[in-house]
Amino acid sequence: MLESIIKHILVTEEEAQDICRRLGKEISRDYADKNLVLVCVLKGSVMFAVDLAKQIDAVCEMEFVRTYSYGNGTESTGKVQMLIDFDRPDIAECDFLVIEDIVDSGNTLKFLVEHILAKGAKSVRTCTLLDKPSRRKVDFNPDYVGKEIPDEFVFGYGLDLFEKYRDLPYVAVVSPEYLATLGL
Ligand code: IMP
Ligand code: MG
Repeated sequence: MLESIIKHILVTEEEAQDICRRLGKEISRDYADKNLVLVCVLKGSVMFAVDLAKQIDAVCEMEFVRTYSYGNGTESTGKVQMLIDFDRPDIAECDFLVIEDIVDSGNTLKFLVEHILAKGAKSVRTCTLLDKPSRRKVDFNPDYVGKEIPDEFVFGYGLDLFEKYRDLPYVAVVSPEYLATLGL
């Protein structure tokens, strides 16, 4: 069943861990003397945020947010809403790093950066496992990127295919045959 849905594996379990080690080193160096707060964007970035956090030597805290982008199917309309937000009394002293699974149109991370800055954050930067730069609809570029990928729908390692397969240890590309059966 799963074999028929996978076109090919895009990021193996080993490569995902290599990415976490590489970005973890960079972030540890850049945030050595800052008050780092990782912001995990539920649900997709859970696996990446957890593995990345383990590779960060700098002292850090974690917050969790959940957003909702209005859209039909695979197209985002640009309107992003907060479903789960965080609050803390020391926001003005915190250097936030938002952790995302994938940047597509750029709407979600652009919105989140503005949202956290509006709370009065000291700084806000972004880190994504995957980036699809060819899909960008707004002027936004993440500060840390695990891997740039072409315009193909991917799932696994936190990313879902209709809410399923987030538990896979690797990222796979959906087969066009499977998408065709869904009329996509
Ligand atoms: P953006 O706001 O258009 O940048 O969309 C980002 C969100 O769209 C991600 O956090 C994912 O939830 C979802 N998304 C975009 N591309 C994919 C994909 O290929 N697989 C799974 N989810 C995706
Ligand atoms: Mg997401």
